[in-house]
Amino acid sequence: MLIAGNWKMYKTASETVEFCAALRDAELGDVDVVVCPPYTSLHHAVALLAGTSVAVFAQSVHWGFDGAFTGEVSAAMLSELGVTGALVAHSERRQLFAETDETAAMRVEGALDGGLSVIACVGETEAERESGETETVLRRQVEALRAVVDEDHLDRLAVAYEPVWAIGTGRTATPEQADEAHALIKGLLDVPVLYGGSVKPDNAGELLGKQNVDGALVGGASLELDSFLEICRAAFLS
Ligand code: 13P
Repeated sequence: MLIAGNWKMYKTASETVEFCAALRDAELGDVDVVVCPPYTSLHHAVALLAGTSVAVFAQSVHWGFDGAFTGEVSAAMLSELGVTGALVAHSERRQLFAETDETAAMRVEGALDGGLSVIACVGETEAERESGETETVLRRQVEALRAVVDEDHLDRLAVAYEPVWAIGTGRTATPEQADEAHALIKGLLDVPVLYGGSVKPDNAGELLGKQNVDGALVGGASLELDSFLEICRAAFLS
């Protein structure tokens, strides 16, 4: 089980220090835990969580080693900081920052070649689900990744299924909807699949109890230590 907290554009460096100092002392059980702070907090998170089982991931990564790419950060830059992985193609990046299946695939390939682990995000919009296109969309998104991932790197890749209509809305997919989507994704790419979209302490157990759900990518509820720890506990028990 893997529980990853995506902080999005929340927490300054000093807020990160406070959160990670408390997380460092928490009892996490036998669960893989990842936090994904903003770039400006990565150094602080790595320093505070060194020697613990909590890994620190970035929220995106560029595919190149270096170059004239204003605003971007490479796998080598992250690795040197002690960051061990990155999210790629979160739906907010797809919707608000022009991320495409092609750039997502390039980022995934570059990050894996650069030695990072990757959580690659996929998921349909509400309109796509309502018009019966969920399977087509997920196939397209996952096949774009599968086309570039080297077999030898599969052990560092996970996919997060995040239905766009469930992100930040308080509406989760039902455990059955999540399980069905995860089964489809796993049939295309044999990697762990996390569920994301309004995961909270009170629904985590039910979602994580499904056979094809290998963990969660948590947004809002990862920002408060108590709720994040409760979700980690639910993962430990399921
Ligand atoms: P919420 O948990 O706030 O719905 O966010 C989900 C998400 O986008 C995680 O990447």
